Amino acid sequence: MSKKIILAIESSADETSVAIGIGNKQTKKITLASHIVYSQIQIHRKTDGIVPELAARAHLPKIIPTIKLALTQSKLELSDIDAIAVTAGPGLITSLMVGVDTAKALAFALNKPIIPANHLEGHLLSSLAGKNLQKRAFPALGLIVSGGHTLLVLVKSIGRYQILGQTLDDAAGECFDKVAKILGLPYPGGPELSRLAKQGNPYAIDFPRPMINKKNFNFSFAGLKTAVLYRTQDSKFIFQDSKADIAASLEQAIVDVLVSKTVSAAKKYRVRAVLLGGGVSANEKLRHTLKKEIKKNLTAEFLVPDSRYRTDNAGMIALASWYRLQQGFITTFDKVAANPNLPLISWQN
Ligand code: KG4
Ligand code: ZN
Repeated sequence: MSKKIILAIESSADETSVAIGIGNKQTKKITLASHIVYSQIQIHRKTDGIVPELAARAHLPKIIPTIKLALTQSKLELSDIDAIAVTAGPGLITSLMVGVDTAKALAFALNKPIIPANHLEGHLLSSLAGKNLQKRAFPALGLIVSGGHTLLVLVKSIGRYQILGQTLDDAAGECFDKVAKILGLPYPGGPELSRLAKQGNPYAIDFPRPMINKKNFNFSFAGLKTAVLYRTQDSKFIFQDSKADIAASLEQAIVDVLVSKTVSAAKKYRVRAVLLGGGVSANEKLRHTLKKEIKKNLTAEFLVPDSRYRTDNAGMIALASWYRLQQGFITTFDKVAANPNLPLISWQN
């Protein structure tokens, strides 16, 4: 059989997502026959953030119907599936367990292999979805920016990774979300804040650019959130700052740090491509500024995920698992467990 059909499940946080990918052994490409993302935003808006137990409870009634819908849309039956892929971590343990245990039950009942996928690897490779993977893309530099992580990763090839730097405290997405909360914006804060930022002046307030001049590739965003908090509590400023100016200035500070570190790392490691991934890649200012600065300073190609692969989705899990499946990195259901702290490590020599 020149084709392999993967059913991929993602439930690491607050999206219940299922994708069915058809991998072609000759072309080495995978195309999605269906891709469903069920978002829990309405549930978490009530509590102004994710309550892990509520997220897990919300995955439960949705996971089987989402699998069924993915099968119907792809016009496939469960018996057509060759392998089950699932996000094993990192993420919220209770949320992960719903996807992992559903995947294990399916793999057991169908007597099919299972591929435990790393959520971070999904984001890291998401910009490659639908594209022809060329050897000359490597070494590449990956910038993963999500609600839980901010990482710069040297991608020597698919499966060979070296973490160059990461956040020492809050992730970039977390900083967007916490500042949005301070400004009274609804959950999820990141997209709301970036929408408001469009009406403000990005240079109205000179917020710090944490660690921008440090020689390493680590990040720190917790202080930035505190700077906004102090600014909004200071009675001298509260009447003269508009919320839009705070949002725009905060967004500019985060983008400046991410872009500066990414361009320095890309120069140092002479990469051929820069891969952006994670929910914060939905931020227009980040995408545009990175594109501009990479063009100005480097010869590297800049790859951005298509919109459906930016925030959490099972499509990127199908893709990451397809690379593993081709190299025989599959296992059986009894060897898989959810791991909330699963690290991004190499699985290829
Ligand atoms: O990758 P993701 O969906 O989930 C995690 O793995 O964490 O990322 C979610 C994060 C949230 O912090 C969210 O606020 C942020 O991505 N985000 C944005 C935008 N869209 C999503 N941050 C800034 N601007 C956006 N447009
Ligand atoms: Zn994510």
